[in-house]
Amino acid sequence: MPSLHLPSALALAFLVTALLAPRGALAASFRVETNALRIKEPASYAGSYDSAIGDFGVPLYGGTLQGRIGHLAANPKGCSNFTGSLPEGVEILLAIRGDCFFVEKAYHAQLAGAKAVIVADNIQEHLLTMAIPEDRPDIAALVPKIAIPVALVQKDAGDRIQSALAADQGAVIVEFDWKESIVHPDNRVEWELWFSTNTACGQACSATSSFLAQFKDSAVSLEQEGFTAFTPHVMLGSCSVWTSEELCHRNCIRGGKYCSTTASSTGAAGELTGRADLRHLCVHKVLNETKKAWQWWEYAARFAAHCRPEAGQFTTACSEQQLRDLGVDTNAVGGCVGSLDSGEAHPLLDAQVRAQNERGPMGRVIMLPTLVVNTNQYRGRLNNAGVLRALCAGFAEGTEPPACLNPGVNVDECTQGVDTCWKENGFSACVDTFRGYVCHCPEGWIGDGYHCTDIDECATELHNCEQVCINTPGSFRCECNKGYKLLGGSPGVPGVCIPIPGATGLPVWLILVLTAAAVVSTSVAGITVYRWRTQHAMQDEIRAIM
Ligand SMILES: *[C@@H]1O[C@H](CO)[C@@H](O)[C@H](O)[C@H]1NC(C)=O
Ligand SMILES: *[C@@H]1O[C@H](CO)[C@@H](O)[C@H](O)[C@H]1NC(C)=O
Repeated sequence: MPSLHLPSALALAFLVTALLAPRGALAASFRVETNALRIKEPASYAGSYDSAIGDFGVPLYGGTLQGRIGHLAANPKGCSNFTGSLPEGVEILLAIRGDCFFVEKAYHAQLAGAKAVIVADNIQEHLLTMAIPEDRPDIAALVPKIAIPVALVQKDAGDRIQSALAADQGAVIVEFDWKESIVHPDNRVEWELWFSTNTACGQACSATSSFLAQFKDSAVSLEQEGFTAFTPHVMLGSCSVWTSEELCHRNCIRGGKYCSTTASSTGAAGELTGRADLRHLCVHKVLNETKKAWQWWEYAARFAAHCRPEAGQFTTACSEQQLRDLGVDTNAVGGCVGSLDSGEAHPLLDAQVRAQNERGPMGRVIMLPTLVVNTNQYRGRLNNAGVLRALCAGFAEGTEPPACLNPGVNVDECTQGVDTCWKENGFSACVDTFRGYVCHCPEGWIGDGYHCTDIDECATELHNCEQVCINTPGSFRCECNKGYKLLGGSPGVPGVCIPIPGATGLPVWLILVLTAAAVVSTSVAGITVYRWRTQHAMQDEIRAIM
């Protein structure tokens, strides 16, 4: 089996700590990403806790999940099959840490039909990120199958849930809340993918290459439309990671300055990986300079599909073929890569090393692959829906792209009627957003969204009725005096009043002239109203996407 070599002692220490053994001192540099976990019922046990999002499973970024929790005394740690033994109505399983891998607990819970799993720590300590044992391919192979959210809570929270279950006061209901798991300051999401171009280094690398292919279309359209600013990064190690001069030489470029973090028994020499990694960075630099940064995704997906190490295609020639197919300047990319044998520093690679370590609030990047959304590291399986949710959760409320409001990613609270906005006679102030909903009075109404009152257009200058104005909920209509009839009027559109022949004693020729004039002015009024409406509609749309 291919094996993954991590770049530093720190990374190894992290994995070991996170998997089985008791704790290390790495919490200071690596960021544990969290969501809120609340005990909702019974009320006497209500409380809110932080829980750490696992590095596998599928967290529902931007959303919530609520359900009845259960715990099996016969299988408290979830290390064997639960199937067929879940108590009636239980949707979320509590498993205690220990005796087997986190991945196994989650897998057993999912097999048994659980919608989510909570692992409770077995000693009181800081939260940690549940990771994947890369040196156990049999366990890592379960990861792509796990499609439920997985969270770790501290011992006190686990104890509280167990006391609530033991108290026998009816169902214990808990809620996961990922609404604040990703910061969402504005209308553009900055995101990064930290990866290796090597597609043959085990679970981490194959997950990356299938993600590049799957997410390409979404990534391209979000980037093209200006919703996101994406930057690729590669993880680098130093020569000292490798145990011998020979390995260092094979896995490093530029005189041992920059080393690949993955090597593979299936033939991707690290030196080649380093070269391909640098080319990917250069392709992005060249494309970004020509304002086509989105095309990087097309390149990366093509490279992952066609230039595979197993097939002996992990080469510069294969990379250049992909670039030519996409119409990218291969000379510009080659110039950026420069000489791999030169002992000099490369600015792009230096930038990677700095960014990997100096993350500030983002924490260090030590897991491969790592996705960063705004300042949060994405946790969970790299899959389409999960990553799209995480990106959507990074937009300020109401500024998310339309793709974030599609069913499958989004719950439409407005049509479900769970909102608390003003509503009356079919009018509603509810406007659906990715994270939930906001309340804005509809057109023709005024208020804060929780109370809306009808605007009396007839009492203002807003109506333009020639003779009689009738206010209606959210709009108005015009009527005419006796002896006239309304031409071209509809709700919100004034129309004009023309005399009814015979009713006014006016000569027929004059009526004809008046009618002709009326037709002309109706069209003008119609166009004006149409323009006004279109502008309004556009403003509304812009408010919804920016
Ligand atoms: C667990 O249960 C499932 C469903 O009944 C079954 O397919 C699977 O083989 C069981 N696994 C073990 C280890 O018993
Ligand atoms: C891409 O180009 C813009 C300017 O057009 C620049 O501000 C940005 O830093 C560049 N991004 C990368 C990753 O080079």
